[in-house]
Amino acid sequence: MKTIVVNGANGYVASNFIARLLKTGNKVVALVRPGYKHTPEERMKSVLADIGESKTLNTQNLSVYPYSLLDKDFAMEKRSLKKVFRTNVDYFHFAASLKYDEKSVDEIFSTNIEGVRNSIDIFLKYASKKSRFFYIGTAYSCGKYNAVFEEKFYKNEPISSFRNYYELSKRYGENIVRQSIEKSHLNGHVIRLSQVVGDHRTGITKTDYGIFDFSKRVYKLASRYPNEVVRVKVDPDSTQNLIPIGTVVNYLLQAVQAETAPRIMNLVARRSIRNEQIINTLNEVLPITLIPQRNLNRDSMNALERLISIGMSFTGSYTETNLKFDTSRRDEVIQPGKDDELNDKSVYAMLEYFVGMLSAQKRKTAAA
Ligand SMILES: NC(=O)c1ccc[n+]([C@@H]2O[C@H](COP(=O)([O-])OP(=O)(O)OC[C@H]3O[C@@H](n4cnc5c(N)ncnc54)[C@H](OP(=O)(O)O)[C@@H]3O)[C@@H](O)[C@H]2O)c1
Repeated sequence: MKTIVVNGANGYVASNFIARLLKTGNKVVALVRPGYKHTPEERMKSVLADIGESKTLNTQNLSVYPYSLLDKDFAMEKRSLKKVFRTNVDYFHFAASLKYDEKSVDEIFSTNIEGVRNSIDIFLKYASKKSRFFYIGTAYSCGKYNAVFEEKFYKNEPISSFRNYYELSKRYGENIVRQSIEKSHLNGHVIRLSQVVGDHRTGITKTDYGIFDFSKRVYKLASRYPNEVVRVKVDPDSTQNLIPIGTVVNYLLQAVQAETAPRIMNLVARRSIRNEQIINTLNEVLPITLIPQRNLNRDSMNALERLISIGMSFTGSYTETNLKFDTSRRDEVIQPGKDDELNDKSVYAMLEYFVGMLSAQKRKTAAA
C-alpha cells in the first residue's frame, strides 16, 4: 500500500485519480481548502459522490485535511504535516487556477507560481528523501511553439510566446520544479496533461473546460435563437488534443506504480480530433448550424456571429492549433491500453451527454 498526498484534491482530475487510488488499495491524503458553506471533508465526499464513486469506495484509507495553498506550512499544524509525511509518499500538486485572462493575472500568478513554490518548500521540509514530488502541468505550456514539444524543460518566455497567462504560469511552475531539482535536490517530476475530457466509454462528462466551455456557449445561443445558421471563426482542419479522464487516471496510476518515473512526461492523446468533427457533432445535438471558417473577419459578422465570437475569447485562441508532442519518455513507463483514445462515437457520446446535462439543469432552474 502506497501513500499518495494530493493537493487541489477536490478538483476534476484529482478527484477521479483519488477514486482510482482508493479502489486499488492505496492510502490517500487529500488537501482541500474549506468552501463557503462546506468543510473540506464534505467537499471531498460530495465530489466523489458526484463522480458516482462514493458508494463503492472504501474511504477508510482517505484522510482529508484543510489547507491554505499560499500560507506558511499550508497553515497546518506541524504535527499534522509530520503525520502526513510520516512515510515515503508520492505527492501530487494539482492545485491551480484555470483562469486565463489578463484581469485574473494576480490570482493566476499567485496560485500557479507562488502556490507551486510554497508546495515545494513544504515538501522539502517535511517529506523523506525517497518521497517523490509530481507537478501536474499542461501540455499547453508549449505556448505558440510550433515544433514537436519534447519531454524536457523549456525556459521561461514573455507573454507574447503564449496564448494566455494560464499557459505562461504553468511554464513558470515547471521551472520552479526545475530550479528546486537543481538547487535543492528535489525528487521532482512534471506530468503534462492535454485537454482532459469526460469518460469516453460511457459519455459521462463532468467537466466544462475547453471544448465543453465552447459547447456551453453554443448551447445558450441555440436555446435563445434556435435553428440559426452561424459562421464561427474556427479552422475546420485544425485539431484538439483531447484525453479521456479514464486514460489520464490509468496513466497517473502507472506513474505511481513505476519505481523510476521520467523527469517529464507528456500525457497526451496519440490521435487528435479535428475541429470539423466537433462542430459537426454540435450541429447534430443542438438546434443550430455552425459553419466553421478559418478566415472570418469580424467586420463581416452579423450580430449572432459577434455574440459567439465574444464568448470564444478563450477557446478562440485554440481553434487553429495543430500541436505535436513527443511521448517517448512517457512510453518507457506507461503501457497504453487497447481502448485509451477517443473516436467519432465517443466524441458524440460526450457532447450528447454534456448537452443533456445542460438541458436538465435548465429545466431544474425553471421549475424552482
Ligand atoms: N482539465 C484539463 O483539461 C487540464 C489540462 C491540462 C492540465 N491540467 C492541470 O490539471 C490540474 C487540475 O485541473 P482540473 O481541471 O482538475 O481543475 P479544477 O477542477 O479546477 O481543480 C483545481 C483545483 O485547484 C484548487 N485551487 C484553485 N485555486 C486554489 C487556491 N488558491 N488555493 C488552493 N487550492 C486552489 C481548486 O480548489 P477549489 O475547488 O477550492 O477552488 C481545485 O481543487 C491543474 O494543475 C491544471 O493546470 C488540467
